[in-house]
Amino acid sequence: MVNRQMNRIVGACLAAVIISCACAKPTHDVPHYVECVDSSDCAKDECCTIGLGRFTIPVCSKRLDLDEHCGSVREPFNTSVFYPDGSAVDLTNVYVHFCPCQSHLSCPSSTQKCTDPMDKSYFNYIDDTGDDNYLNRDDY
Ligand SMILES: *[C@@H]1O[C@H](CO)[C@@H](O)[C@H](O)[C@H]1NC(C)=O
Repeated sequence: MVNRQMNRIVGACLAAVIISCACAKPTHDVPHYVECVDSSDCAKDECCTIGLGRFTIPVCSKRLDLDEHCGSVREPFNTSVFYPDGSAVDLTNVYVHFCPCQSHLSCPSSTQKCTDPMDKSYFNYIDDTGDDNYLNRDDY
């Protein structure tokens, strides 16, 4: 009776070990504080961003919404980051500070704002500000 119970407990423990091994990510050496190593690690409406600081930690950030300023968004790139604990992490398809617009939006250079290409009013957009420096204006 006691033996049978023991067997059951041991069996449950073995199953737990096997399951946790099967679920472990194949990527090794990625420290727990690193949220993403590629933008595909993030949710659909997010991307992986890093800062320019020495020990910057990649995080998932929201992609930009309609009408948000997207002129400062740079192309995705690959890089490696290093941490004081000796970890080195290879990153792919990450952005500096800002994600691009949500995937169904574009960033026309004329407005530098996330725009819905399906929105017909965009095609009738008229720049009537009369300001020659319009494109260089700092909107922040
Ligand atoms: C980043 O790395 C991926 C996978 O190795 C590669 O396909 C991609 O072309 C690289 N991108 C850049 C900008 O080098």
